[in-house]
Amino acid sequence: MEKEKISMYDPFTVGDVTVPNRLIRSATFEYGAKDGKMTEEMIELYRKLAQGGVGLIVTGMQAVLSSGVNGPHMIQTSYDGYAEDMGRMAEAVHKEGSRIFVQLNHAGYKTDWKNGCDRLGVTGREVEPGCVYHEATEEEIARIVQGFAQSAKRCKEAGCDGVQIHGAHGYLISTFLSPATNKREDGYGGDIEGRGRLLLETYDAVRAAVGDDYPIAVKLPYADRIEPSIQPEESLWVCRQLEKRGIDLIEVSAGVGEPGQRASSTPLEVAGKEGAFLEGAKRIAEAVAVPVASVCGYRTPDFIEQVLNETAITAISICRPLIREPGLVNRWRYDRTRPDCISCNRCFQSKGLLACQVK
Ligand SMILES: Cc1cc2nc3c(=O)[nH]c(=O)nc-3n(C[C@H](O)[C@H](O)[C@H](O)COP(=O)(O)O)c2cc1C
Repeated sequence: MEKEKISMYDPFTVGDVTVPNRLIRSATFEYGAKDGKMTEEMIELYRKLAQGGVGLIVTGMQAVLSSGVNGPHMIQTSYDGYAEDMGRMAEAVHKEGSRIFVQLNHAGYKTDWKNGCDRLGVTGREVEPGCVYHEATEEEIARIVQGFAQSAKRCKEAGCDGVQIHGAHGYLISTFLSPATNKREDGYGGDIEGRGRLLLETYDAVRAAVGDDYPIAVKLPYADRIEPSIQPEESLWVCRQLEKRGIDLIEVSAGVGEPGQRASSTPLEVAGKEGAFLEGAKRIAEAVAVPVASVCGYRTPDFIEQVLNETAITAISICRPLIREPGLVNRWRYDRTRPDCISCNRCFQSKGLLACQVK
């Protein structure tokens, strides 16, 4: 009997949560918080996205410690009233039929040091002339890990469907994973068992805080797009460890975003080639039984459905096109043409709330 074709509008499950279709809005920073707090405008942005039909929305990265933010526009999960605000955002999304996960992060080398944030990183480094970050101590690492755990607990209490640990794009966890940035000589450096330790400890602490049934996702790289890079088999090792421990969804990205490495996780050259990081996701999806999502450069339903049908990948994540066209997923039901997002990355220059900067 012929295998039934998978449609991008077919549901899938993450742990016990049913996601109504295979399209994920990958985490996208909103540039919207006021002094670390959510605003009504941000809730409206998420309501609109959910109305647009995307199955699962991962929020922009949120800071697990107030000292780990990248600026005042980043939501901090520790302010009084966070759970109520996050609860209202989740409710707005649920009313429209979508699901929401919160992406949790510590900015590592990209903290807002000018405003007194942590100056620590995987390895000591002068991040700007005159500004030296020290190698994070074990006590500091433990405090950050607990920050992830407590934040996840608040997200669960708020009624969010899950959390995503940000292990990609040059923030703290990703710099531990990468041999280009991790020069530590203690148990958090060296081979992938050492470099992966922070991510695995973070996962374990989050799992202990939220219990067995709450969905935990991770976004991680299969390559750093810089040498020396994390190797695909090393990423695979980390994924297998996470799978053993009970991870519910793995989103595969790439790029460690070192200075001078422009847009390593959001390449500009996607227009001609869809699925810029597909190869890594494909390999990981073949190796683990948990759902794997692939992100970067997906622009047409035909290609997305080809990937869903020809690989073990379960879902496809989209970011930039949904900034320009939040209704894209519903629009594709009757018009399958590519969005007119040109992946120019000018959305990174949003002043105030995230918006496409191309008129
Ligand atoms: C404006 C902007 C903000 C982003 N913020 C985040 C973020 O907070 N967390 C994250 O993991 N990735 C972030 N990304 C990366 C996207 O999630 C995604 O991995 C990348 O843009 C590639 O997907 P695309 O080609 O569909 O845009 C951001 C990308 C853009 C353009």
